[in-house]
Amino acid sequence: MAKHDQVLVGLDIGTSKIACIVAEAGPDGKVDIIGIGTHPSRGLRKGVVVNIESTVESIRLAVEEAELMAGVDIQSVFTGIAGSHIRGYNSHGVVATQNNEVTQEDVDRVIDAARAMNIPADQKVLHILPQEYIIDNQDGIREPIGMSGVRLEAKVHVITGAVSSAQNIVKCCNRCDLDVSDMVLEQVASSEAVLMQDERDIGVVLVDIGGGTTDIAVFLNGSIRHTHVIPIGGDHLTNDLVIGLRTSAREADQLKRKYGACLTSLVPPEDQIEIPSVGGRAPRPMPRQVMAQILEPRVEELFEMIRDELQRSGYQELVAAGMVLTGGSSLLDGMVDLAEEIFDMPVRLGRPQGVGGLVDVVSSPMYATGVGLILYGQRYRQNPMKMKSTDHNLFARVWMRMRGWFGDTT
Ligand SMILES: Nc1ncnc2c1ncn2[C@@H]1O[C@H](COP(=O)(O)OP(=O)(O)OP(=O)(O)O)[C@@H](O)[C@H]1O
Ligand SMILES: [Mg+2]
Repeated sequence: MAKHDQVLVGLDIGTSKIACIVAEAGPDGKVDIIGIGTHPSRGLRKGVVVNIESTVESIRLAVEEAELMAGVDIQSVFTGIAGSHIRGYNSHGVVATQNNEVTQEDVDRVIDAARAMNIPADQKVLHILPQEYIIDNQDGIREPIGMSGVRLEAKVHVITGAVSSAQNIVKCCNRCDLDVSDMVLEQVASSEAVLMQDERDIGVVLVDIGGGTTDIAVFLNGSIRHTHVIPIGGDHLTNDLVIGLRTSAREADQLKRKYGACLTSLVPPEDQIEIPSVGGRAPRPMPRQVMAQILEPRVEELFEMIRDELQRSGYQELVAAGMVLTGGSSLLDGMVDLAEEIFDMPVRLGRPQGVGGLVDVVSSPMYATGVGLILYGQRYRQNPMKMKSTDHNLFARVWMRMRGWFGDTT
């Protein structure tokens, strides 16, 4: 049985499913997946917990299944956070170095200076992700400690989220006797699992299309530049099918997964499918193209919203590596082709990678966030010194913050 300090658990609390993925970290830093538990999610809307009881129940069942498969007792998890309450800002801070050489303390101070910004009272800082440091006007520095200079500047991406949403996630986990090691923005987690370093360097857009939300993150020169959440996902496609095909949500979701496509031209006109009816009526035959005709405009609309957001962010022309689509809805037939057409850039499907063990069971884009949470956790564990300059302290602060949100009672 795996030792506890080697076990990493990613708990992806999604709108459609809860996925609990368990991995074991080897001494060489390799991460092997040893178990997974999934359960349909019942208490979320558009990425946000709206029913604690139902969410707790779904988490419990997913975690139990994962524990059984992995043969470990799960005590703490890395979990994701999403929803349209999330905001991303670029900010920067400047300090004078104390001894003409940049120390850890200077870096901590400059990050603190960068986070000093006016955020609404109901929002809290979730992440401060350093983009680059500038020492005496020399820009593009990623590892500033030990370098000479008197003026240290940091450019950072600050991500904030609604306090109550974060609190509810922690509450649900605590109710299942789970500690939350850290809470990670879902697209930041997914990016750990599906993006390659060279893509982050030359510029890439990550688009995670789940059930309730579409999460976007833009990377350039190795770090995150822009984040955005659109409260539309695969559930909206399913709802359109419910209305268009007059069938139940369950059947519509299954039909979508099996026969759905978002490009009518991909579906042969002679293909027929059977639509189960409601109210005891007999199933009806229908051309498969009808489904594509319903789905195509909705996906197009979503892609246009993403395109507008990219234009607003100013990064549309700078992402040389194009776009990576992930999340369950990226599996819809024709997604990559339609995205290439609308964005006029190279697009690929992002499946989780960078792990060993039971790779096949987590190879679906649906598990990008869950696997990414594990890789995020591993990066923190494996490299505490390097992370100290930025994320390690952040990690400690996340704890302090979470304790703060709950008062002194936890
Ligand atoms: N093969 C498929 N074709 C089309 N859609 C699919 C397929 N498989 C899954 N989906 C859709 O993907 C969605 C679920 O994706 P995912 O598991 O990534 O969402 P989630 O993480 O639970 O939700 P969110 O991230 O929005 O909170 C559902 O809407 C489901 O219908
Ligand atoms: Mg998701």
